Amino acid sequence: MSRKGRPESDAAPLPPLYAMTHAGLEAVAADEINRDLGGEVKKTTRGLVVFRVKDVTPDLLKLRTTEDVYLLAWGSDSLAFTADDLNLIRTWTARKPDWPRLFKLHHSLRPKTKGRPTFNIIVQMQGEHGYRRTDAREAFAEGLAGVIPAGWQRTDENAWLEIWLTIRGKVATCGVRLSDRTMRHRTYKLDHVLASLRPTAAAAMVRLAGVGPGMTVLDPMCGAGTILAEALDVARSRRGDPVRVVGGDIDPNAMFVTSQNLDQVGKASLFRWDATALPLASASVDRVVSNPPFGVQLGSPEEIGPLYAAAAREWDRVLKPGGRAVLLVSEFDSLQPPLRSRRWAMTRQLKVRLLGQPCVLSAWEKPDWVGS
Ligand SMILES: C[S@@+](CC[C@H](N)C(=O)[O-])C[C@H]1O[C@@H](n2cnc3c(N)ncnc32)[C@H](O)[C@@H]1O
Repeated sequence: MSRKGRPESDAAPLPPLYAMTHAGLEAVAADEINRDLGGEVKKTTRGLVVFRVKDVTPDLLKLRTTEDVYLLAWGSDSLAFTADDLNLIRTWTARKPDWPRLFKLHHSLRPKTKGRPTFNIIVQMQGEHGYRRTDAREAFAEGLAGVIPAGWQRTDENAWLEIWLTIRGKVATCGVRLSDRTMRHRTYKLDHVLASLRPTAAAAMVRLAGVGPGMTVLDPMCGAGTILAEALDVARSRRGDPVRVVGGDIDPNAMFVTSQNLDQVGKASLFRWDATALPLASASVDRVVSNPPFGVQLGSPEEIGPLYAAAAREWDRVLKPGGRAVLLVSEFDSLQPPLRSRRWAMTRQLKVRLLGQPCVLSAWEKPDWVGS
């Protein structure tokens, strides 16, 4: 037995884990894994962070910037794009992983439910390969022959245990999923508006903003309130003076949806307003975190420049000197001029892909001096 009274076989080093993120947000997720979870990040590739932890604990499921977390069974970053890959998938799946151990670790976080255990085998494939996804799935299932105990039932929906193979270009990653849909969709998000952000992307924005005790955080174009909800979540976990969360939108339906969603999370000050004329005092907020409409969402996309210019004038007015803004847009060229003309300094720029749409997440600092 080990010091903790666990059988020696369980005291062997844990297998690595991997987290899926939105492409472009790996560095933010890696920072959360490292600083909040105490994990050791081993590798990042687009949309993926491989890491190690000392113990598999429920804290893994509290990560905010990751879409899903898995125990790593095997991985390769040298797929050949030919049918040879199918042999590799079959052989590595059959021989490389210690499946009983992976399953045991999975069950420690996700105890068995009543009735026959259910499982699913999932293959996702992106990019052009010399074989189809169904071929990869067949090879994967052949490799898993004898791994799933007889009597377990295969189901497509909400299986208790899911074994995944993800193929993105030349990278293949195989593992056992630890998270369920509540990691990516949360439990508060009952309602959406058009172009509502994925909560993990909103969490990454709030994280980049660096929200501290006693701060006021503003989203002046809040849509369904996803950023506000993630800011409230950070506020809950901060010791010291409470964080104040303020938001609004021009659309009454968005305000209705936001109040419904935030009902589950905490208290925010909400207003229906025009973000180009905010009813807020000058230098009254510490952080602006927002995702203004993209050009494609406006009736006429050429309105985007004037809208960003008018909104930026208000961000600059209400933000305290030295305050920070984190903004997600697709027309980055329209965002920069009004901020640079006010001598805001860009501290971070991430090219992100959200649900197929390329966009730019940028962090800015307002000067803490008044220029001449
Ligand atoms: C991309 S959506 C924000 C989505 C939000 N981050 C979420 O997760 O649901 C942009 C929002 O800006 C709002 N909006 C557009 N023009 C506005 C204005 N002048 N003042 C306030 N809100 C505005 C739209 O109604 C829309 O809800």
